[in-house]
Amino acid sequence: MSTSRDILVTSALPYANGPIHIGHLVEYIQTDIWARFQKMRGHHCWYVCADDAHGTPIMLRARQEGISPEALIARVAEEHQRDFADFRIGFDHYHSTHSPENRHFATLIYSRNRDAGHIERRTITQAYDPVEQMFLPDRFIKGECPKCGAADQYGDNCEACGASYSPAELKNPRSAVSGAVPEQRESDHYFFRLGDFESLLKTWTRGGGLQREVANKLDEWFAAGLQGWDISRDAPYFGFEIPDHPGKFFYVWLDAPIGYLASFKALCERKGLDFDHFWGPDSQAELYHFIGKDIVYFHALFFPAMLHGAGFRTPSAVFAHGFLTVDGQKMSKSRGTFIKARTYLDHLDPEYLRYYFAAKLGSGVDDIDLNLDDFQARVNADLVGKVVNIASRCAGFIGKRFDGRLSATLAEPELFADFIAAGDSIAAAYEKREFSRAVREIMALADRANQYIDEQAPWVVAKQDGREAELQNICSMGLNLFRVLIGYLRPILPGTAAASESFLQIEPLDWATLATPLLDHDIAPFKPLMTRIDPKQIEAMLEASREDLSATAGAPAASATAADAANPHLSRDPIAATIDYETFAQVDLRVALIREARLVEGADKLLQLTLDLGGETRNVFAGIRSAYDPKELEGRLTVMVANLAPRKMRFGLSEGMVLAAGPGGRDLFILSPDSGAEPGMKVK
Ligand code: 2FM
Ligand code: ZN
Repeated sequence: MSTSRDILVTSALPYANGPIHIGHLVEYIQTDIWARFQKMRGHHCWYVCADDAHGTPIMLRARQEGISPEALIARVAEEHQRDFADFRIGFDHYHSTHSPENRHFATLIYSRNRDAGHIERRTITQAYDPVEQMFLPDRFIKGECPKCGAADQYGDNCEACGASYSPAELKNPRSAVSGAVPEQRESDHYFFRLGDFESLLKTWTRGGGLQREVANKLDEWFAAGLQGWDISRDAPYFGFEIPDHPGKFFYVWLDAPIGYLASFKALCERKGLDFDHFWGPDSQAELYHFIGKDIVYFHALFFPAMLHGAGFRTPSAVFAHGFLTVDGQKMSKSRGTFIKARTYLDHLDPEYLRYYFAAKLGSGVDDIDLNLDDFQARVNADLVGKVVNIASRCAGFIGKRFDGRLSATLAEPELFADFIAAGDSIAAAYEKREFSRAVREIMALADRANQYIDEQAPWVVAKQDGREAELQNICSMGLNLFRVLIGYLRPILPGTAAASESFLQIEPLDWATLATPLLDHDIAPFKPLMTRIDPKQIEAMLEASREDLSATAGAPAASATAADAANPHLSRDPIAATIDYETFAQVDLRVALIREARLVEGADKLLQLTLDLGGETRNVFAGIRSAYDPKELEGRLTVMVANLAPRKMRFGLSEGMVLAAGPGGRDLFILSPDSGAEPGMKVK
């Protein structure tokens, strides 16, 4: 094997205002597999990440929840880290961009670039909310599409007709924060002169480290000309104030990638590593950033340029991946395919998803699809039916007939040698991030192992007198093949590998030791290493994801994707487009008496209400548990939509919806008619 390499890898930093979902996990699982592989090969590989904690959406979300941004990002940091740990994402360090290390590096990188003349001031005109007294990012302006007239569109593109435009073109624009009509105001901003770095970036791009698709994209950008980049934002803003410009803050995208340095610095402090060895201008260490294809611009232009301008090394490569679709479509809240990491974990084993993503991932930027039928079939057939099956077919005999002792010799040394020889190609596939190829090659070996056991038929040998040694040899051979397979799968299935290592009573596997078979060795009694996916688990996960959405009539769902993070869910939702009276009159609102309110087992957001409509009783699941104790609701009057089509939920049928207002959490308020109202009265 080659000599040991020093490698630093990162995944993109998730925004600190929303939960991790399975779309994010493509990247964390991809990076984690690669980092675990490098560690198994004996390299010094460090994997760091952090929460991306700054920016307008985070400031406004905290305000909406009535807490400080610091409290919000602290809570989300905990949630994120719990989700990552449960998916066995093995970060060596997880940090925050709102940290002293990041302030230090952001300030340093900015001031070195400024002193070298790479920052310039320009006056720009921007939309301003006179009520909230703040400048509005494009995504916080809503209005009618200038092309098709669709109402309620964001300031940069229309979801109805797909047109892109500038916020100034929107008709009847409104601030999504306060609903006020935005004004145009001037302000001084600071720009990073990206054009100064054109030749550096061209050389870097052609250095061979980039994927073909990414390099092509960069060529398009070079052809279009490199524009200055606005790195400042006006107060109020949650971020770092620019040292020599009070009231101006670094734009979140300036300090986000610098968070990679900050997180690594914190790791260096913990482990006594040499920061400059990895980030110094002459660093020979390898530095890789795994990212989604939507943020190539930041990572392949601004970031290397700013690093170089400040005397740091540039990344060895940026590895972009595609987006996730579920059953061939964009993740959808109404279909239940917008699946949070936590919702997945409530129903399914993380190893399944790690395996499925690995089986789909290549080195390119193509989108990958989670087809739920295929997911179930593949995990059950490959992992349970092939890999784990090898161990369960052999382990029983070794345990019962040989007191857990493996043979002293290998029955089929050539077959074992073939398995070891296949490791080079598998390792090459991992190295190149061709995980789907690695999986195919490993599964071909698993087929051969099963074929060996089929041919040897230990269950027949076991019944025949005088073939004891043979039986032990066959089963020991089978378990040795299993051990090699688990070694190869270990970067993908760290949990199953750990369980297998304790079953085999061996040290954590690494690539080099795989070639030495396990002989004359005691193993532990076999316990099932993985169970099959039951389609009911998938159905329950989808239902729970739908429930996350349908939790209340009035409260906005939590923001989650990168796009959502920019998507304001604000204290005052803007008034929706008008509807005609006939449409309104179709909604049958009724006064309802809450006869009974109960907790729903397995649903932490719901209460089950029995509502009396004056003679008729309805069962309704309402997402108001965070705000109400069931007992305090019983006997109260409220208002419900009585003619909403019944909805089948995992917990039963919901026959209507109660109305509630407020941002969520404790701040949810059901409507209460004045005294004198009677159950069943129509609300007009
Ligand atoms: O797109 C996003 O979700 C960003 N939070 C990624 C930041 S990656 C890096 F630059 F910090
Ligand atoms: Zn439109």
